[in-house]
Amino acid sequence: MRDKLERLKESALRAVDQAANPAELEELRVRLLGKKGELTQVLRELGTVPPAERPALGELANVIKTAVQQRLESRGETLQAQAMELRLHAEAVDVTLPGRRQPPGGVHPVTRAFQEINGIFLAMGFPVASGPEIESDWHNFEALNIPADHPAREMHDTFYLPPAADGSKRVLRTHTSPVQIRAMLAHKPPLRFLAPGRVYRCDSDITHSPMFHQVEGFMVDRDVHFGHLKGILELFLERFFERSLPVRFRPSYFPFTEPSAEVDMGCLFCGGKGCRVCKGSGWLEVLGCGMIHPNVLKSVHIDQEVWSGFAFGIGVERLAMLKYGIDDLRNFYDNDVRFLTRHAVMV
Ligand code: FA5
Ligand code: MG
Repeated sequence: MRDKLERLKESALRAVDQAANPAELEELRVRLLGKKGELTQVLRELGTVPPAERPALGELANVIKTAVQQRLESRGETLQAQAMELRLHAEAVDVTLPGRRQPPGGVHPVTRAFQEINGIFLAMGFPVASGPEIESDWHNFEALNIPADHPAREMHDTFYLPPAADGSKRVLRTHTSPVQIRAMLAHKPPLRFLAPGRVYRCDSDITHSPMFHQVEGFMVDRDVHFGHLKGILELFLERFFERSLPVRFRPSYFPFTEPSAEVDMGCLFCGGKGCRVCKGSGWLEVLGCGMIHPNVLKSVHIDQEVWSGFAFGIGVERLAMLKYGIDDLRNFYDNDVRFLTRHAVMV
């Protein structure tokens, strides 16, 4: 019996030392000390040995049991420390890695062009005026000398809206010119204003977008003539582009101006030779302008015998294309991060 106990001790301690992980150790604990465990079994057999030997054997058995328990505990601690060591190693954070950068935002090229245009006209004494994007048919067309059956309405592929509560017709404004009407009704001449804003037309190709931006400018005073208009626009274009580019005033037609002109800039993308951006013409139309039509002055109750005025409407995206070298207008609204990082100015 004594031998058996000694052998059990030897093999038990060896097994505990060899346990490779906490699960194996737990298995061993059950196998040795559990209800049906080997040591428990031997302790039970104590009843069968002669009574004289029992106390000494009993003591030995308890000493062995305690030794095995202690060894199980210390092996458990060792295994736990090893596991922790491994985990610390595996989950280590490399504090020398560079951080992840949050790229700074920038100003969208259209916003940038807006700011530059506004700044130049502000310096020429044009304060900013505004009007609604959902506009009445009267402000967008009628008051601008474009009656319902006028062929000029076809120049604007209009987005019509359901009528207002009072039955009047409404549109998404097709240009910023209705702001002329609003400002001339609200203010007496002499007056001058700049009206930057969003406009809408059912249009889409490399130089047209269904939503785009215009800057309307207009001035009403005594003896205002076409020379003033031309001078102001030429000065503006020179300041905006910071160099002189080919510019031409081309006679044109708008129902709300007489005479009317459109201004073209030499196409930057082909140097005027003709390409897909300028559709082979060598020129890109950037704005419309003219002397405010007498019928328009009449509709806002301004006496045309005393006052005269000019007006212009600039296509903001077109100017931005030429200034920043962007060869497809739709890029502005695709939100492609590669385009934005290239053309947005950091602030
Ligand atoms: C007008 O909208 C007139 N209201 C301009 C005007 C104002 C004339 C005051 C006289 C007096 P037009 O339809 O040509 O005109 O548009 C003006 C400019 O907007 C064009 O020269 C062009 O640069 C730009 N533009 C026109 N349609 C689009 C479009 N779909 N996408 C981007 N830009 C456009
Ligand atoms: Mg035009």
